[in-house]
Amino acid sequence: MRSYSLIAPAKINLHLEILGDRADGYHELAMVMQSISLSDRLEVRANGTERTQIHCQHELVPQDSTNLAYRAAELMKTEFPEAFHRYGGVEISIDKQIPVAAGLAGGSGNAAAVLVGIDLLWKLGLTQSELQELGAKLGSDVPFSICGGTAIATGRGENISPLPDLERIHLVLAKYRNLSVSTAWAYQTYRQQFSHTYPSDTNTLEQRANRVHSGALIQAIAHQDAAKIGQLMHNDLEKVVLPAHSLVDELKTAFAKCNPLGTMMSGSGPTVFALAESKSQAEAIQKQIKELLPHPELDTWIAQFCPQGIHIAQ
Ligand code: C5P
Repeated sequence: MRSYSLIAPAKINLHLEILGDRADGYHELAMVMQSISLSDRLEVRANGTERTQIHCQHELVPQDSTNLAYRAAELMKTEFPEAFHRYGGVEISIDKQIPVAAGLAGGSGNAAAVLVGIDLLWKLGLTQSELQELGAKLGSDVPFSICGGTAIATGRGENISPLPDLERIHLVLAKYRNLSVSTAWAYQTYRQQFSHTYPSDTNTLEQRANRVHSGALIQAIAHQDAAKIGQLMHNDLEKVVLPAHSLVDELKTAFAKCNPLGTMMSGSGPTVFALAESKSQAEAIQKQIKELLPHPELDTWIAQFCPQGIHIAQ
């Protein structure tokens, strides 16, 4: 086949804990990640040239080498020169549904889809962990985007331990259209304010990373207890993003007034989500949030948890 259509689901964090500094300048994290049905669709096809081409209708998505999906294709060229020589370059079309710079790993998911698409096009037969190793060279969220579902992510975010699939819990997401938060800024600001709490020895860091495996949230996931999951969600980056962006803070407060199972900012924001008991409760929360915050730029989505990462479109 000379073309593949792939679905790249967004992710939310159910838990994001910053444990400390790493020697490589990044942060050591303990996260619980969840794929959701809000997805981009990518077409990856052989273009018969040596070039990588990107097309996307979204004005905020770059169509050059600054796009992580483009870098994914270039990485495959350098890692597999023989296959590149044989099959040539690729043209990538992105149908963007996931909001950009939103804390939902949209760009990482696109890069993950390009790795999977080129693996198929070039008949490389890479394993999931080989694809994840390549993904880690592109960004911290790319390895999770490849496998998706429900998982613990530690290290920079690239060490993935799968968790049992969760039932299809419904959620509402909301984001102000022209508001974006830089992930690098969020982590840097966190470091400025909280580095005095970081442990200096690697043993303590490791112990803290292991703690997440035996924590109450993981128990709640094992028991499919959506109400408990809602109560236990946690995101350290809220401590820096909410005080700096009052719109995001107000959004979270407004969601809490709608009596969801729980509400939290995803990743470095600015998307905030609320978990619901059912699809009808999610629809009621969506209606209520629009009434509480009748701002023309507030976009909302209803989605549900989904058990997979990058997959071929039906
Ligand atoms: O890996 P990625 O490019 O997605 O990360 C974006 C930025 O977020 C990094 O440049 C870094 O500043 C910050 N980051 C971090 N620690 C992590 C992941 C990301 O400090 N584990």
